[in-house]
Amino acid sequence: MKHIVHPFEFDEYPSSLELDPSDQELLEAARRATATSYAPYSHYYVGAAVKLENGTIVTGSNQENISFPAGLCAERVALFAAVSKYPGVAIESIAITAKAENFEVPDPVSPCGICRQAIAEYEMKFDRKIRILLSGEKGKVLAIESMEFLLPLMFREKGLL
Ligand code: THU
Repeated sequence: MKHIVHPFEFDEYPSSLELDPSDQELLEAARRATATSYAPYSHYYVGAAVKLENGTIVTGSNQENISFPAGLCAERVALFAAVSKYPGVAIESIAITAKAENFEVPDPVSPCGICRQAIAEYEMKFDRKIRILLSGEKGKVLAIESMEFLLPLMFREKGLL
């Protein structure tokens, strides 16, 4: 038996003002995207912004449905919009944030498991790490260099690619 320790690395910025200008721009786009959220059930407004290798930013927000499972998270709305509008262009980074009607969101918002798998897919497809920026309404921002850290031992089957 081998005991294996998998690394989990990320950078923590005390405030978005300490990010470099390109990350700041992406996070601002995600923050603006929260205003486009359709969340009449949770009143939790998630914004995501994807930056492509060609510099284009595509945003998305969570879209809920009266039949709950039909809704979609902000991250996948942004990712799927980006790759369908710009097929073949690799994804460089994604910023995620949220605000809520009934409480503050002080902590960085981390993507759900399905969105992690969806982000990982595009790392595999483009053979390029995706930088992930996580933020709450304000305060600290976490930057993770690859989905490898957020989804260790992910489902990955070369035979299916
Ligand atoms: N949500 C996202 O948009 N992204 C996530 O990673 C987690 C959750 C949305 C789904 C739902 O509309 C609301 O947040 C509350 O769960």
